[in-house]
Amino acid sequence: MTATESRVKDLPIILPEPSEATSGEQVEQATEEWVEKFRGYYDQWGTLLQQNLDRLSRGSYSLHWLDTEHTHWGTRVQPSSRGLTAADIDRPKVYGTLPEHTEWRNFAPRGSARDLYKDAMPVIEGYDVLDKSHLWADNVNTLYEEAKVRQWNSTTDIPWSELEPVSEELEKAACQLSTFLTEVEFVAGDFPSRWVWRTAPDFFEVNNFLTTQMVDEARHMEVFRKRAMAGAGGLMHPSPAFEWALKAILESPTHSQGTFLLNVLGEGLVLSIFRAGEFLSKTHVDKEIFRLCMQDEARHVSYGTLEFKAYLDAAADRERALADMHRFADIGEQIILTALSEPALLESVAVLMGGSVAEIDEGMEGVGFLWSTIVEEYLQRCDRAGFSRRDRCTIPLEFPWAA
Ligand SMILES: [Fe+2]
Ligand SMILES: [Fe+2]
Repeated sequence: MTATESRVKDLPIILPEPSEATSGEQVEQATEEWVEKFRGYYDQWGTLLQQNLDRLSRGSYSLHWLDTEHTHWGTRVQPSSRGLTAADIDRPKVYGTLPEHTEWRNFAPRGSARDLYKDAMPVIEGYDVLDKSHLWADNVNTLYEEAKVRQWNSTTDIPWSELEPVSEELEKAACQLSTFLTEVEFVAGDFPSRWVWRTAPDFFEVNNFLTTQMVDEARHMEVFRKRAMAGAGGLMHPSPAFEWALKAILESPTHSQGTFLLNVLGEGLVLSIFRAGEFLSKTHVDKEIFRLCMQDEARHVSYGTLEFKAYLDAAADRERALADMHRFADIGEQIILTALSEPALLESVAVLMGGSVAEIDEGMEGVGFLWSTIVEEYLQRCDRAGFSRRDRCTIPLEFPWAA
């Protein structure tokens, strides 16, 4: 077994999620279980409901909500120069202090008079991400604000009607790269979605940002799918080897580990490709697509880097956390190797850089430069997070297949 094979054999495996109800029989059974479960809650739900019905039938009002004793009544939040931002409303400590660990597994807002109702409220079992260290990043509020103002629309912001024809092989390469990117964008959107619904609402700042990432990735998937079709080419070949790397990202055991794989490693690689858009684009339409996607991707990479730093900084036993992450990164770095040896990506990029299939060797020189940039930028992000991989990086620092 080669070193690569044995590393890939150690990929983190998690058990499959219980399958969702799909067939008629499954829906019937799931409905039965839901009804039984909520009948079981009647003691608590029904008691509260009955109290409210009794009060109304007596012609009384509760008006308990006028009592501000357990609230932070009178705390005013002040808008800054850009308006009332996410950071502004976190400025008062009573509202903006996030717990290191939360036991609030329901929807009662952080900062409300919720302590009074603790025992009366339901537990949402699905909320099992309860530690700040698994998702917080110091830049998350800033990135959320930026994401809201920098949204764009692939329907109207790309000058599709100006897409000029290029040679058939260049169009094939552009369509192949678009197919690869479409594939990648699916996992980039699905990964945060898997964790948002598990994250307790006390960490809503992170969930809000991750929701913008999901919208961004949906738009990226959409724009590359459109690009493949807009030049009368079409969707080309999927990338089987890279699909295994995408699976490893999606099925990461923890949010922090997955964020390292997706945002630091995978999206770092994609960001470098978008930055090289100047050399990959044969039309100004392609340049505009890469430019707009690059802005979004930079936010995702920036979140991932600071989330990873915050995770390591918060670790009770930093040496152990570092050792675990080094083991994880030994596998994770195979994502870069797998992407840049996947012919669907490597060769389409080389043809776009070279200018034709005949000039693929010249294009490979450009890919070599891209490789060094990707690996160096990845190592810089690791440095920034306090995680030096320079002596342990499992992939070559220089492009191994120079023509
Ligand atoms: Fe993306
Ligand atoms: Fe992204």
